[in-house]
Amino acid sequence: MATNRTFTMLKPDAVEKGHIGAILEKISASGFRIVALKLTHMTTADAQEFYAVHSERPFYGELVEYMTRGPIVAAVLEKENAVEDFRTLIGATNPADAAEGTIRKLYAASIGENAVHGSDSDENAAIESAFHFAGREMF
Ligand code: TYD
Repeated sequence: MATNRTFTMLKPDAVEKGHIGAILEKISASGFRIVALKLTHMTTADAQEFYAVHSERPFYGELVEYMTRGPIVAAVLEKENAVEDFRTLIGATNPADAAEGTIRKLYAASIGENAVHGSDSDENAAIESAFHFAGREMF
């Protein structure tokens, strides 16, 4: 397995509830190295573009509204097998289906407000990281 990178966002609900520290601690303790990190606030245009793949889905409008209602933490993470291992760490999209101990099981309220994002492929990890960070902001 190669060392690679994934992209994550701690979503507005996680930030509102004060879970930034606990979630970053869990990410670090799980062997991920933080190579980029910032607090940022997505505009409507940002969220529409970031989630463009879901633009025809019934939840798209609510998703864009949710992702823009407050600041998020964006981060790039490095680890062997980063994309797959991070998806395992965050758990299923719907926290009701997420395994015990996963970030979504611990911190997410619902499928619509599920606390954290994790890229689903190496290709999307690179695209999403570049969406939020300039090259000089990744270490
Ligand atoms: P998706 O990419 O399918 O999930 P994941 O974040 O686990 O990769 O969906 C993106 C986000 O869209 C998801 O995190 C929450 C939201 N969403 C809903 O609100 N309702 C739904 O039925 C689905 C599938 C997703």
